[in-house]
Amino acid sequence: MPAARDETHFGRRKVRLDEKQGLVNDVFHRVAGRYDVMNDLMSFGLHRVWKDILVAKVRPSLTRPFAHLDAAGGTGDVAMRVARAGGPRTTVTLVDVNDDMLRLAKERAARRSLLKQLTFVAGNAEALPLPDARFDAYTIAFGIRNVPRIEDALAEAYRVLKRGGHFLCLEFSRVDLPVFERVYDAYSFAAIPAMGKVVTGDGGAYRYLVESIRKFPPPERFADMIGEAGFGRVDFTRLSGGIVAIHSGWKL
Ligand SMILES: C[S@@+](CC[C@H](N)C(=O)[O-])C[C@H]1O[C@@H](n2cnc3c(N)ncnc32)[C@H](O)[C@@H]1O
Repeated sequence: MPAARDETHFGRRKVRLDEKQGLVNDVFHRVAGRYDVMNDLMSFGLHRVWKDILVAKVRPSLTRPFAHLDAAGGTGDVAMRVARAGGPRTTVTLVDVNDDMLRLAKERAARRSLLKQLTFVAGNAEALPLPDARFDAYTIAFGIRNVPRIEDALAEAYRVLKRGGHFLCLEFSRVDLPVFERVYDAYSFAAIPAMGKVVTGDGGAYRYLVESIRKFPPPERFADMIGEAGFGRVDFTRLSGGIVAIHSGWKL
């Protein structure tokens, strides 16, 4: 059932809109230290391929200045990939609402000597503490599902992009083969929370992850929302049988 106007979903639970962010923050505080290892385990390393494909679509310039924003950037996987893919004049701003994730992102970027190209900003994707028309491209990977007011995050993405700027979102989607769906459901609802419990000590956080995937709008509907935010040439590509999709739109 859809949530009422001032309600949203936190996994399967209906919660007040103003309650969800605190619950999401709690999940990522609890799992931050084991976040990267769990991503590899849960996806059999596939999240790396999906992120590579996302960054190939960003295509940062090798010669000209290129300003990139990675929202809900977490421990920095996408931001660091964009920095590496671009030239020396590519700069990447990573925004995340969670200090633990930001701290881990900074430590990882330092180990890879990427600090010069990266800026870390504590902030909410729904109200970015950044100026209008500043960025050439915006990415959000596995982040928008966690944001209580998705429309606000899309409006903010539109605001901070330059004209001609590219919006890209990598998110879990809907598997499109019924047989595969049954296997995927069994794996997600049974194996992932169990794995989460062993690796992070927190099965509940990973139950939220699996449930939140099912509550996210189907890709056709999410594409409409991107269009309603003002973006043009909106499309999406399903990857890995629809486990994830990359959504794209342009500020024309
Ligand atoms: C599943 S992680 C994804 C991290 C990273 N993008 C990746 O692909 O590995 C989701 C991230 O979204 C962040 N987040 C949740 N709600 C947010 C919000 N409203 N604004 C900005 N970041 C948010 C969390 O703190 C967390 O780091």
